Amino acid sequence: MVLSRWGEGPDDAAALAAAWADELVQQGCAVPPADKRRVDDAQRWIVGHQERMDAGLALDLVVRSAAGEVTGEVGLGPFDWNRRAALLGFWTAPTWRGQGRAAQGCRLLCDWAFAELGLVAILAETTESNRGSQRVLEQAGFTQLPPQTRPQPEPQSGNQVWARKPH
Ligand SMILES: CC(C)(COP(=O)(O)OP(=O)(O)OC[C@H]1O[C@@H](n2cnc3c(N)ncnc32)[C@H](O)[C@@H]1OP(=O)(O)O)[C@@H](O)C(=O)NCCC(=O)NCCS
Repeated sequence: MVLSRWGEGPDDAAALAAAWADELVQQGCAVPPADKRRVDDAQRWIVGHQERMDAGLALDLVVRSAAGEVTGEVGLGPFDWNRRAALLGFWTAPTWRGQGRAAQGCRLLCDWAFAELGLVAILAETTESNRGSQRVLEQAGFTQLPPQTRPQPEPQSGNQVWARKPH
């Protein structure tokens, strides 16, 4: 498994547009509105993401197969640089699910971000019904926060909050 930037593969925009069209990705992640999910929209998003990365706003990386295919995404953002914290998000393309890729990708990104970006906490939000996401977070070293210790601002109503600190 390799984590790399969006735009390094010839089919990245098509793969991103296909992920945005997937119902589970739509339920679990923030995706553009239905009329902004075409391949050229994805291409524009990839170009814009370089600027968001340079500005320290977000860091979304492709989880690639050994052959360079897009198998999913792991990302951090928004960042709270004062608290040295960030929010984790992730998806796996439908045909690549069930192979441990999301768990391994999240673990790799978090280990790297603690070591190289100086973060002291990474948070994740998920719905009660998203068992897959919860299992991925457990396997990536996260624990669920009890409601009274949840950080401000409050997460989306009813969502679970998970956190991981550097080891
Ligand atoms: C959730 C999601 C990322 C899982 O990706 P994946 O690459 O298949 O996950 P992994 O293979 O790394 O699975 C890790 C663990 O989660 C379990 N798991 C994965 N999907 C599951 C599901 N739908 N229900 C229950 N457990 C699930 C796996 O079985 C594995 O546990 P195990 O080792 O005990 O068997 C994928 O289904 C997805 O892209 N969903 C839509 C986007 C989303 O919800 N993202 C999370 C936002 S917070």
